[in-house]
Amino acid sequence: MKSTLLGGLSPRVFLHEYWQKKPLLIRGAFPGFTGLLSPGDIMELACRDNAQSRLVTRKHGLWQVRHGPFMPRSFSGLPPAKWTLLVQDVNHFLPSARALLLEFNFIPHARLDDLMVSYAAAGGGVGPHFDSYDVFLLQGMGRRRWQISAQQDRTLIAEAPLKILQDFRPEQEWLLEPGDMLYLPPGYAHNGIAEEHCMTYSIGFRAPSHQELAVQFLVHLQDNSDIEGMYSDPDLARQRHPGRLPPAMLRQAATVLNNIKWRRSDIERFLGTYLTEPKSHVFFTPPIRTVTRKKFIHQIREGKLALNLKSRMLCGKKTVFLNGEAYPVSAITRQSLEKLADTCTLPAGGNLDDEAVSLCYEWYLDGFIDI
Ligand code: SIN
Ligand code: CO
Repeated sequence: MKSTLLGGLSPRVFLHEYWQKKPLLIRGAFPGFTGLLSPGDIMELACRDNAQSRLVTRKHGLWQVRHGPFMPRSFSGLPPAKWTLLVQDVNHFLPSARALLLEFNFIPHARLDDLMVSYAAAGGGVGPHFDSYDVFLLQGMGRRRWQISAQQDRTLIAEAPLKILQDFRPEQEWLLEPGDMLYLPPGYAHNGIAEEHCMTYSIGFRAPSHQELAVQFLVHLQDNSDIEGMYSDPDLARQRHPGRLPPAMLRQAATVLNNIKWRRSDIERFLGTYLTEPKSHVFFTPPIRTVTRKKFIHQIREGKLALNLKSRMLCGKKTVFLNGEAYPVSAITRQSLEKLADTCTLPAGGNLDDEAVSLCYEWYLDGFIDI
């Protein structure tokens, strides 16, 4: 699959001028791209209980959403138009989907969410809405009309079962053909309407809200703090108003709380574990028949080692993060494992130090790595 991903723009120019700022339509971003899945494949994925899927239909102007897992017969009674089936995390199931995500390697994996695929009948779509994500909407099979708007009015239809803008006023409109791609920054209103049976591949980049970051950090602190000492009041005086919150108690509590400190390394540990934490429906399966460590090393040298499709890996300064766990490592181990975090594989002929081999073998036994 040849990539002219940014339509002649260098990643640097794209990031400087468009990323998080304004939409960009790229005609022929992936020349010859007609998709990674057939309609049958996506329906089959939507029937799996480890995939998150939704079926959005519209009848007499009324929106309806059903959540998967579906039964194959759920799709046999569908009308000829105005429905769409969406499956999240398709990169957990298809090596080619992960390869597609890796085309966006000029953006940190820490920002990456997933590849969502939608399959719609003519007139189908999820309605006018906005996302809090950066998204690249890559057209697979068939054509889809995209309308977009920079409107600030984000009022949603209160009674709709999904986020639909009450008053969508499109400002620009394009018909996307297979291989065309539209980049949208967060908060940009958009509406995709299938012109005919079509599939859209959404490469989504998450950005946690400050509220979410702060709350999750506080949760992390709760699990990782060890604050010494205990409230004490040896000089307690007789109380005339025992029902009052004593000012001295407030002062002491304020001193204790104001002394809670964290370092950059605590924030790194929090971010690394938080951003690599598997979603709640994701489980890893250890290999049924395991190879010995010796054979494992041989497989690494052959270039056969790859992160499991569901794994998320990030590198910190002295720590490697994998699927919500933090692994403190030496500088040399970190360096050799960074390749795995960057590309999801290790090159053939590479030589890992003992610490890196031991970690990889442990991850292989956990099902985080495949050979
Ligand atoms: C779709 O593929 O129908 C929805 C994608 C989106 O609007 O984010
Ligand atoms: Co959207």
